[in-house]
Amino acid sequence: MRLTFLLAVLVFVFNLFSEANAESAHFNYILHCQGCHLVNGGGTSGKIPALIGVGRFLSVEGGREFLVRVPGVSGSLVNDAELAEVLNWILYEFSPDNLPRDFEPYDAEEVGRYRKDPLVDVEHAKDRLLSLIET
Ligand code: HEC
Repeated sequence: MRLTFLLAVLVFVFNLFSEANAESAHFNYILHCQGCHLVNGGGTSGKIPALIGVGRFLSVEGGREFLVRVPGVSGSLVNDAELAEVLNWILYEFSPDNLPRDFEPYDAEEVGRYRKDPLVDVEHAKDRLLSLIET
């Protein structure tokens, strides 16, 4: 009896936290990304890339790093854990159909490592990845 109660409390607390994560990720997207990438991740043609479909970068070597090292991402005013959450959120929200089957969500440690090394030549890096995706 006591054990069941304890389990119920644990499940409740766990759910509270996982919802808080998704909510805070969405909130951070609104605060730190949406101004440019828009509510639906659609971007602005010729200026701001759409986030719809960005999961395709994860299927080629270097793509996982790329999504973190892009300056708007690496320089964002959120900590590593929050940035990992926002990235996972945009991937699940805007790109569920492009995620590799074995997609592993980002975590704070990985994001922290990549963001220390922001991309200087984004266009070149992106072109290289796109050519890998197309072949
Ligand atoms: C000031 C506008 C601005 C803000 C704010 C911004 N971005 Fe961006 N983002 C861009 C631009 C412009 C690019 C194109 C690459 C470049 O020139 O840096 C880009 C590129 C990207 C890319 C690579 C996609 C591609 O196809 O090139 C991702 C992923 C991304 N941003 C996610 C985010 C996330 C997540 C946030 C919030 C933490 C964010 N951005 C905040 C403007 C912005």
